[in-house]
Amino acid sequence: MHILSVADDMVPAARGDEASTLMAGKIMASLFFEPSTRTRLSFAAAMNRLGGRVIGFARPGGTSLQKGETLADTIRTVESYCDLIAMRHPQEGSARMAAEFAEVPVINGGDGAGHHPTQCLLDLFTIQKERGDIGDNKVALIGDLKYGRTVHSLAYALALFKADLTFIAPEQLQMPHEVVEECQEHGASISFETDLDAAIEDVDVMYVTRIQKERFPDPEEYKKVAGIYTIDTDLLRHAKSEAIVMHPLPRVYEISAEVDDTSAAAYFRQAFNGVPVRMALISLVAGVIS
Ligand code: CP
Repeated sequence: MHILSVADDMVPAARGDEASTLMAGKIMASLFFEPSTRTRLSFAAAMNRLGGRVIGFARPGGTSLQKGETLADTIRTVESYCDLIAMRHPQEGSARMAAEFAEVPVINGGDGAGHHPTQCLLDLFTIQKERGDIGDNKVALIGDLKYGRTVHSLAYALALFKADLTFIAPEQLQMPHEVVEECQEHGASISFETDLDAAIEDVDVMYVTRIQKERFPDPEEYKKVAGIYTIDTDLLRHAKSEAIVMHPLPRVYEISAEVDDTSAAAYFRQAFNGVPVRMALISLVAGVIS
C-alpha cells in the first residue's frame, strides 16, 4: 500500500507535468533477455522522469552471453556499472538468482512463466484507481492462467486483500495448484470456470490475458486453445455497467478493438500506470525516499 501511495504522488512527474531529480546522478541497468515493450520502456521512462540515466540491452544478441558468459558473471559485471538493475529473463527464478550475485538492488521484470511482480503492483494500482478499495471487488482472471506470470503474481496479491476471485480458463490452462493453495491459505474465495459468458455477469474486474504461444511445449496444444476467449461489446452487454476490462498487454485475439472505445477499457490507462509505479519502486529500492 505504501508503494501504491508513493506511486500516486509520482503521477504528475510521470506525466511530465512536474520535474523530479530524485535519481539524478544514478544509473539503472535495464537487462532484457526476452522481448518487452511496456515493462522495458516504462522502466526507462520512469528512470528518465526521475532524472536518472539508463544503460542496458533489449535482447541478449549483442552481449557476451553469445560467447557463453553465464548470467551470474553478467550480473557481477553489470552491477559495478550501475545503482540498480531491472531485468527480464526466460528462466523462472532468474531474478532471484541475480539478486544473490548483485550488491545493487535487482527488480524482476518477469521471469519466464514464474512471476511479474512490478506488473502486479501496477495492476493493483489500476484497480485501486478505477474501482476504489481493492478487496471489495470480484475479479475474474481470464485466459492462460498456467503460463501467465502476471496472473500468478496478481492472484497472490489479490488473495492478501481477500478479493473474490474467479479463474476462467480451459482446463489445461488453469491456475497452477500451488498458486491456488497459497491463495486459499490467505483466505481468498476462489471459483473456477471454463465458460466465459456464464461467469461474467457479476464480475467487477475482467483481467484478460494472452494465450502464451511461446511457452507451449507442443504447438498442436496451442492450436486447441488459441482464440478461445474474446471480450467484445456483445459480451460486455452481459457484464455490470461499471465493470472494467484490464489486460497486461500485448493482446492478440482476446479483446476486440471495438472495446477500446468503451468506458470499460482500462488497459491503456493500466499501461501508463507502469510509469508512476516503477518510479515509486526505483526511488524506494535506491533508498532516495523511504
Ligand atoms: N505487460 C508486459 O509485461 O508487457 P511487455 O511484455 O510488453 O513488457
